[in-house]
Amino acid sequence: MTRQLKLCAAIGLTAVLTVMPVLAGKPLNEPIKPIPATIDVDPKKVALGRKLFHDNRLSKDNTVSCASCHDLANGGVDHVKVSTGVEGKQGHINSPTVYNTAFLFRLFWDGRAENLEEQVDGPIQNPIEMGSLWPDVVAKLYEDAEYPRLFDEAFGGGISRQNIKSALAEFQRSLITPNSRFDQYLLGNENAITELEKKGYQNFKSYGCISCHQGAAVGGNMFQLFGVANSYFQTRGNITKADMGRFNVTGNVLDKHTFKVPSLRLAALTPPYLHDGNAPTLRAAVDIMFKFQLGREAPDEDKDAIVAFIKTLAGEHPEMKK
Ligand code: HEC
Ligand code: HEC
Repeated sequence: MTRQLKLCAAIGLTAVLTVMPVLAGKPLNEPIKPIPATIDVDPKKVALGRKLFHDNRLSKDNTVSCASCHDLANGGVDHVKVSTGVEGKQGHINSPTVYNTAFLFRLFWDGRAENLEEQVDGPIQNPIEMGSLWPDVVAKLYEDAEYPRLFDEAFGGGISRQNIKSALAEFQRSLITPNSRFDQYLLGNENAITELEKKGYQNFKSYGCISCHQGAAVGGNMFQLFGVANSYFQTRGNITKADMGRFNVTGNVLDKHTFKVPSLRLAALTPPYLHDGNAPTLRAAVDIMFKFQLGREAPDEDKDAIVAFIKTLAGEHPEMKK
């Protein structure tokens, strides 16, 4: 009798367990946070910002738009080591993605812009990117058949440097990528990622990657020295100004070779990697992290699992599919 009861209980339990994974489980409390499904933005400013983002007239000779270096259908990057701007001028640093920039505490590799509005001054005026003067940009946009009305509707005011910056910033804030497989896992769907990917996440935590890459963007919330364990720059050679990182902003020797920890959210889609574009694959970037940030060796299978985990972080945005 007791035996039978125990058996029934066991069967009952199995039945419950097999049903469980289909139902949403409890959200997990982890150092990586899911990207919210929506973000509060003004649709008129977003639509205007989208048009500006693709507009070549923001550049000196009308040849380059923000999208030239941040291709939204290709991860929001240009997939080259360093970008090419107006008149074929070569940049000094790898272009990061514009997706999920709403979650970054500062902008640029060295964090020199406090917010997305301030960031816009960089590319527009940079002689090797768009090379423009603000009054010229404003004048060119006034000649357009639609902009004067669109600015008026979005801001209740005319075309100005401030309104252009504000519209571009609002558009970029809308570029969030929710619903990644990893976020589904965080939200309680235990089957959203494979055993290998789970192992990869465990490795990511146990080896210490998580101490720098964390939060909603899996990065982007602190500055860190590049070369904590070994000198990356001495090993690579040819040290440039861009390699100085945050030191270029603060002049503080302690900030030499310090960078904003990059977001890994879209890393699966944005080779080459690192501020110098020196890592052609995700696996190469992970090897460099082990050697120079952690000073540790690890079996290939542990690194491969980490790469598999990083690939689960990329979510969705309608612009990604165009
Ligand atoms: C010629 C190529 C090029 C063009 C054109 C360009 N960018 Fe960039 N963008 C870059 C590069 C390279 C960086 C990294 C620069 C740095 O960190 O010093 C960058 C950085 C950024 C960042 C910071 C991302 C982060 O992770 O911190 C944002 C946001 C951004 N660009 C938006 C824009 C917008 C908006 C425009 C148009 C007004 C634009 N970019 C035009 C190449 C370009
Ligand atoms: C001490 C802080 C720190 C630790 C620990 C760390 N990283 Fe990083 N990570 C960084 C910084 C800083 C960069 C940017 C380096 C640069 O190019 O200037 C970076 C860059 C990367 C990139 C390239 C991203 C891109 O878009 O270019 C990947 C991938 C990466 N890290 C993965 C990892 C993995 C996996 C681990 C663990 C094995 C790890 N990181 C450990 C700070 C850290």
